[in-house]
Amino acid sequence: MNNSKLYHPIKIKDVLIDGNLFLAPLAGYTDIPFRTLCKKHGANLTTSEMVSTEGIARGNRKTTELMTRAENEKLFAIQIFTNNLDSLERGFETLLNFNPTIIDINCGCPVPKVVKTGAGSALMRTPEIMASLVNFINKNTEIPVSVKFRTGWDVENENYLDFAKLAIDSGASSICMHARTKTQGYMPTAHWDRLETLTNMVHTQYKDVPVFGSGDLFEPNDGLRMLKETNVDGLMFARGAIGNPCIFDQTKHLLLTGEDIYPSPINQKIELILEQLDLMCLNRSNEELAFTEMRKHCCAYLKGVHGASHVKQLLMKAKNRNDYIEALSLLT
Ligand SMILES: Cc1cc2nc3c(=O)[nH]c(=O)nc-3n(C[C@H](O)[C@H](O)[C@H](O)COP(=O)(O)O)c2cc1C
Repeated sequence: MNNSKLYHPIKIKDVLIDGNLFLAPLAGYTDIPFRTLCKKHGANLTTSEMVSTEGIARGNRKTTELMTRAENEKLFAIQIFTNNLDSLERGFETLLNFNPTIIDINCGCPVPKVVKTGAGSALMRTPEIMASLVNFINKNTEIPVSVKFRTGWDVENENYLDFAKLAIDSGASSICMHARTKTQGYMPTAHWDRLETLTNMVHTQYKDVPVFGSGDLFEPNDGLRMLKETNVDGLMFARGAIGNPCIFDQTKHLLLTGEDIYPSPINQKIELILEQLDLMCLNRSNEELAFTEMRKHCCAYLKGVHGASHVKQLLMKAKNRNDYIEALSLLT
């Protein structure tokens, strides 16, 4: 069957985006080096890690770094999290100074530190706060607002249809659902049937509001299946992109040609690790930090690679680029 129509441009309000394969926000991962690679390998839109509106309002240095775009990110979404309109209002001018292509609101983060403040997935229980945020952004800028949420707080309280309607009625121009409840965290299997129900509702009741799907997109074939089974307009790759920033090009290739070129050959993985390491060294204030932060990415790149456990151990101790090259050469 020809699946090439499943890859297509996306319009979010007045913003036209070449394709429908996006990188999801991933706290602790989607920094400038990683986004640079994802963009280079076909991500049609990349998003910052979630940033707190309180941090923006206070001009926090770390928050400012998180909102800075990479050189190759012509389009760039900034995701905010908050439990109140007040801090968004106070930080709004600063947020606009970063000129995001899209402002995304996090309504899905299950991390206790965030949820106990009433932000992230706690907004699934206070949809009126989400609506006030969307409404404020929509009234005060032309920049499109998107909302990323879960199916509900728990299986007894799956309110995603009402939540999506309220978001769109308040002015959201696109939505993304991670097809799990807050209490499900990242397990078990995502409920793609909810994505299908959501997409049908949005496509029937609204015009021009793209729906993105998230949850268990680990390889290109998962993307193909999600597009076919749920009718979502686009995909947000998350854990599947960690250790495989080529997942966007690979998925596009699968959709356009039917050929599955996943997983990347080991030589390509090695090149990517070194490229990300170099970008990390340029981006971080000191190289030691870059080497420490690369560890989790290396584990992801080498997951499932035959004979890689010794190499991973060597990389955990690597102190310079030569240590990396020596360790990685054991895989070729
Ligand atoms: C380490 C990690 C960090 C995440 N950070 C964010 C975040 O900052 N904002 C957000 O909306 N979702 C965040 N998520 C959720 C992902 O964007 C995505 O919705 C979720 O992982 C489901 O997709 P997957 O099963 O394909 O990984 C995070 C997930 C992980 C694993």
